[in-house]
This record gives sequence, structure tokens and C-alpha cells, in this order.
Amino acid sequence: MAKKDKKAKAKDKREKKARKSAKAAKTKLQLVAKAPKISKKGWGQDGKALDGVKILDFTHVQSGPTCTQLLAWFGADVIKVERPGTGDITRGQLQDVPNADSLYFTMLNHNKRSITLDSKSKEGMKVLERLVKTCDVLVENFAPGALDRMGLTWERIHSWNPRMVVASVKGFGPGPYEECKVYENVAQCAGGSASTTGFRDGIPLVTGAQIGDSGTGLHLALGIVSALYQRIRTGRGQRVLCAMQDGVLNLCRVKLRDQQRLAHGPLREYTQFGEDIPFGEAVPRAANDSGGGQPGVILKCKGWETDPNAYIYFITQAPVWEKICDLIGEPAWKTHPDYAKPPARLPRLKEIFERIERWTMTKTKFEVMNECNAFDIPVGPILSMKELAEEPSLRHTGTVVEVDHPTRGKYLSVGNPIKLSDSITEVKRSPLLGEHTDEILGKVLKFTASEIAEIKASGATGQMPKAPAPKAVAAE
Ligand code: COA
Repeated sequence: MAKKDKKAKAKDKREKKARKSAKAAKTKLQLVAKAPKISKKGWGQDGKALDGVKILDFTHVQSGPTCTQLLAWFGADVIKVERPGTGDITRGQLQDVPNADSLYFTMLNHNKRSITLDSKSKEGMKVLERLVKTCDVLVENFAPGALDRMGLTWERIHSWNPRMVVASVKGFGPGPYEECKVYENVAQCAGGSASTTGFRDGIPLVTGAQIGDSGTGLHLALGIVSALYQRIRTGRGQRVLCAMQDGVLNLCRVKLRDQQRLAHGPLREYTQFGEDIPFGEAVPRAANDSGGGQPGVILKCKGWETDPNAYIYFITQAPVWEKICDLIGEPAWKTHPDYAKPPARLPRLKEIFERIERWTMTKTKFEVMNECNAFDIPVGPILSMKELAEEPSLRHTGTVVEVDHPTRGKYLSVGNPIKLSDSITEVKRSPLLGEHTDEILGKVLKFTASEIAEIKASGATGQMPKAPAPKAVAAE
């Protein structure tokens, strides 16, 4: 090709590209101009994010209910299907008030409706079929195979309602353990949390945060919302699976990071490095060492001798090191070659934190918090559950809420920790067992009065109606 032709072609190409990007910019501007205005209805008064989404909630215990409670908080209509008589087993577990649903149940089942149904009966399955056809999502966390044994295979559900999303929590994903039943601590152990939690010379520990149950419920909720979003494009439902082992491992991501770093040398931010204790083949338990690149530990504060929570988490973040030196009374450390730079400090972390602790022990955890935050030094007071329950700012944001319940009275709960500006959460009490059975059969599933009578007479929703007492027969 002649040089001239080549030049003309390149010019054409440049011009075409410029026209294309000008067009894209114009479209973007038009879209912005057409964009909806900020709601005039005020903070959180413009409906609910998941308004119109119906959930068949076949969950129990903690992992599944955490998920469906989140969806209910965002406005989904969550219909909890429970076994007649007992319902979700947690209703009766760890009961503190006689004959009232336990806090275990009430704190995981807000904003839901309850229908009792024997899913293994013929009439019960008739109701379930109608529920599947009416709802958008089925959520369950039964033991592996239980849903299939009930007759609710994915193929059957899909044939009844191809738009339905079927979401499950299981202990393990496909593999050698997939048939196993799993509870919180089993997942913490199998997902890598326990092997990396605790003190190096102590046994593995489980954490108080329910990362196996509630953590997996959170993961599942995201999977469901994503599947609903994809359904807008495909028109089709899909299966969503969250294995608790996977959920825990996901939350232990930084420990798998450290496992691979071990191949390249010791983990220098772990205090055991400074103590000259060799590393083994697997990531060790790191006690309270920081999981990130900024060294941190828990230090005693004033009153630690009698108060089990008089402690503070202290992070020696590099950018504020000089401020830390001034605050604790070691200004010479700012320029001393053993302390001035982070790599020089790593082998001396034990000594450094002991010095900082001599300072924190002269103050309460809240004094340390205030003094450090004045200089942007990141610290965290160890707050007890009592302190959290009484914290006014958490009450103010609705993260801690007081709920009234007809049989147990007032109790505290954790509200929705996720705040949406157009979809605020009102926390409504959990349902009594079967409280909404009639309402759901009639108003939601549109069974006629005679059909409802038939379903009830079969015993599918609970106690069979009592047969009239036999007439006394006079003795001959
Ligand atoms: N009507 C009739 N039967 C019902 C029913 C209803 N409304 N609801 C549940 N059932 C039946 C199930 O079909 C199942 O019967 P099957 O075993 O004959 O098939 C039975 O009740 C028990 O269900 P299962 O899930 O096995 O309960 P479990 O109490 O024995 O086990 C778990 C509890 C949590 C260990 C188990 O469900 C599990 O491993 N789930 C997955 C992982 C999980 O979520 N774990 C964390 C829980 S917080």
C-alpha cells in the first residue's frame, strides 16, 4: 500500500474513533439528564428494595433464617413454612421465658409470616406446589437430600415454575463430605477458621462471630439477589448453592494468602517472628496479631485486673508511627534506626507493644480511644455485649432495636446492619407458629374456603379438627 493511502486510512480510523466517543459521551449526558431525581419522599420513605419479591422460606436454625431475614428486611414477602406442632426447632431451644419463642428464634425470624404445613402429606404437597408457583425464590437449608426426599427436586420445581430461584445452604459443596450434616462450629473447623484462631501453643479455637451460619446466610442472600437480577435478562430461575465450608474459607481469605507467603519465608508481621520461633508448614494461630500489613495486638487498659473487657486493640499503623512515639513518651524512637522504619520494628514488636501497653494501662479503654483518635491512630476498645446493648448511637441507627412480642414481651435485637437510603428497615416481630396459615392459604395462594377446609381436615396444616364426641349409647 502506498504511504499516502496508509496515512489517509489511519486518519479515517482516528476520526471514526473520535465520532464514536463523542456519541457515547452525548448518550451518557442524555441518560444523566433523564435520570430520576433524588426522592422527595425523604430518607427511606420510597418503598422497599425487594418489594414484590415472594420467598418460600423453608429454612431452619440459623444459616438459612439469617438469609431470609435479610431479604425480608429489604421488603421481600417471606413465607416461612414450618412443620406443624414444633416448627423451626429453635423456637424451643435455649428458652429463657417459659412457653414463649426463644430469642434464638425471634432474633432470626423478624418480618416473616409463618404457615404450618406437613410437606410430606398429599395435601401439604398440594399447598407447596401452589407456593412454588406463586413465589420467586425457594430458600432451604435442610440436610443434604431432604428436599429431594420430600419430592421437591430441582426438575420438579423448575417444571412448576421455571422462573423460580432455588437457593440452598449445605455444609459442604460437592466432594467427599457433601452428604454430611453441619453446624456452625463444624464449618468453622472445616473452613480454616479454627486452625488459624487461638494462641500458637494452645488448641484451635472457634470464634464468637457466627461466620459459618450467619456468614453463609449473608453469602446466600447475595447469590439470591444476583440470580433475581440475572432473571430479568434470561427470564429463568437458577440454583444457588452456598456451602458453609466455602463461606468460612472465603472469610479466611487472608490466611490462605499467608499459607502461600510461607513458601517464601517467615511471616514477619506475626509476633512469633520477633520471638525467633520457627514457622511450620501451615499458617500458625496468630493470637491477636493483626491480619493485615499493619502490626496490631490487644493491650491491657486501666482496670484490666477486674474487668475482663478492659482492653484495647492497638495498631501501629506506619503513617502515624511518629504520633504514637510522642503519645507514649518515646520521641527518640522517631529517628532511632531500630524503630523509625517498619521493617526495623518487625523483629521488635514484642518490646514495642510492651512499651505501648505500659502507657495504655494508665488509661481506660475509652480514654485511649479518644487520645489516639485525636491523632488518627487506629485503635478499638473491646466492647462487651452489655456495652453494645446500651450504646445510644447503635440504638439511634436501628442497628440495635427493641422489639415487642406478644408472648415474651420486649427484647433487644440486632436490626438490619445494611442501610439503604430509599429502603429503610422496620424491624417487625417474628411470627408465632402458624400465625399466618389462613391468610396465606386464602389471600396469597387463593384457595377457596372449601379447599382450605379440605386441606385443614387432612391434618396437613396441623392438628386435625376434633371429631365430635361419640353419642353415649344406653346400656341394654
Ligand atoms: N413437614 C414435614 N417434614 C419436614 C418439614 C415439614 N414442614 N420440614 C422439615 N421436614 C423434615 C425433612 O424433610 C427431613 O426429613 P427426612 O430426613 O426424612 O428427609 C427432616 O425434617 C429433618 O431435616 P434435617 O434438615 O435433616 O434436620 P436435622 O435437625 O436432622 O439437621 C442440620 C439439622 C442443620 C444439621 C441439617 O439441616 C443440615 O446439615 N443443614 C445444612 C447445613 C446447615 O444449614 N447447617 C446450619 C444450620 S444453622
